[in-house]
Amino acid sequence: MTVRPVRLGPGDAPELFAAIMRSQALHLPWAPPPASEDELRASLAQPADARVSYGVRTGAGDLVGVVNLTAIIRGPFQNCFLSYYALTPFEGRGLMRAGLATVLDLVFGEHVLHRVEANVQPGNARSARLVRGLGFRLEGQSPRYLRIGGEWRDHDHYALTAEEWPGQGG
Ligand SMILES: CC(C)(COP(=O)(O)OP(=O)(O)OC[C@H]1O[C@@H](n2cnc3c(N)ncnc32)[C@H](O)[C@@H]1OP(=O)(O)O)[C@@H](O)C(=O)NCCC(=O)NCCS
Repeated sequence: MTVRPVRLGPGDAPELFAAIMRSQALHLPWAPPPASEDELRASLAQPADARVSYGVRTGAGDLVGVVNLTAIIRGPFQNCFLSYYALTPFEGRGLMRAGLATVLDLVFGEHVLHRVEANVQPGNARSARLVRGLGFRLEGQSPRYLRIGGEWRDHDHYALTAEEWPGQGG
């Protein structure tokens, strides 16, 4: 099955909020939900120079996951952070791997970024396997890195630069 990345905006909030709600068994404890549909809408309305959200859709239009590029920093850094989640019932079929690969093409192509960083909790084996499989390097451990579910959680710190992404050629 092929997938394509489609930019998400505030108008996608109702569809995405419902999909997140039905995905809670998959997402918890790694990716807590937004507090409300309005909070999700506000995050999808952020300016594109700060945050870009892609829905991963099948050819039939099913929304199978989301990939966010956040904290896009230009100048000599040209870096962003990557966050992602699959949406039930489409997880575990290789669609997120394919969707992330298409978004990474855009990160280094259309967005002309040089580096993308992903932070994964040490116990999140699925997520670690996903980024490692895409070529991300483990750069180190970051203690108490992100507050998730009310606690400061340690994260493993992965990154990928344009030189390491097939087709970019440095
Ligand atoms: C992490 C997540 C996005 C992976 O989505 P997915 O739909 O399983 O991804 P895919 O089907 O494309 O599989 C990705 C890889 O994980 C592997 N995988 C699937 N289930 C696994 C499991 N239980 N344990 C270890 N690896 C697993 C797949 O085999 C595949 O590996 P490979 O193709 O390199 O061999 C999904 O589990 C998720 O949404 N988790 C909750 C939110 C989250 O953790 N987000 C990331 C925060 S850092």
